[in-house]
Amino acid sequence: MNAENLAKAQEILRRFPQKSSALIPLLHVVEEEFGYIPPEEVANVADLMGVTEAYVESVLSFYTLFHRQPTGKYLIQVCRGLSCQLLGADDLSKFLYEELGVQRNGTTADGMFTVEEVECVALCKNAPAVQINLAFYPDMTKEKLQAFLEKAREEVRSGAGDEAAL
Ligand code: FES
Repeated sequence: MNAENLAKAQEILRRFPQKSSALIPLLHVVEEEFGYIPPEEVANVADLMGVTEAYVESVLSFYTLFHRQPTGKYLIQVCRGLSCQLLGADDLSKFLYEELGVQRNGTTADGMFTVEEVECVALCKNAPAVQINLAFYPDMTKEKLQAFLEKAREEVRSGAGDEAAL
């Protein structure tokens, strides 16, 4: 991790009397910097915490919110919880897979989009729900997703650099 995040990691470690309790916050620091957890950072985090790499791996394999491979610029997570499934989440996923030419957990060849299906994102009252990067989008439709994809592609084409939003 870079120097700024190393300082952040050391500050996190100081806050936890038991170093092993700091693992999840440390992994968040790594995920924020790289967009996923590179293998060399597993070793780095294990060293910082004074635990084995196997211990870090065991936690990583349990939590699906951490990624082991790089994701696209836009990480689109379709909720597959019951409320969302009853209200069309499968159609949204299918639409995205067809539109982007990817399979579940796949990333487009240009590195723009990754599509995942995730457990309940706590917007059941406004199902179906989607999360894109850190933002939540309730009452999702294929039309809204189509508009988002076009906006994101246009922003990349124009070199705007800003992240598209719905
Ligand atoms: S089931 Fe989708 S937000 Fe809860």
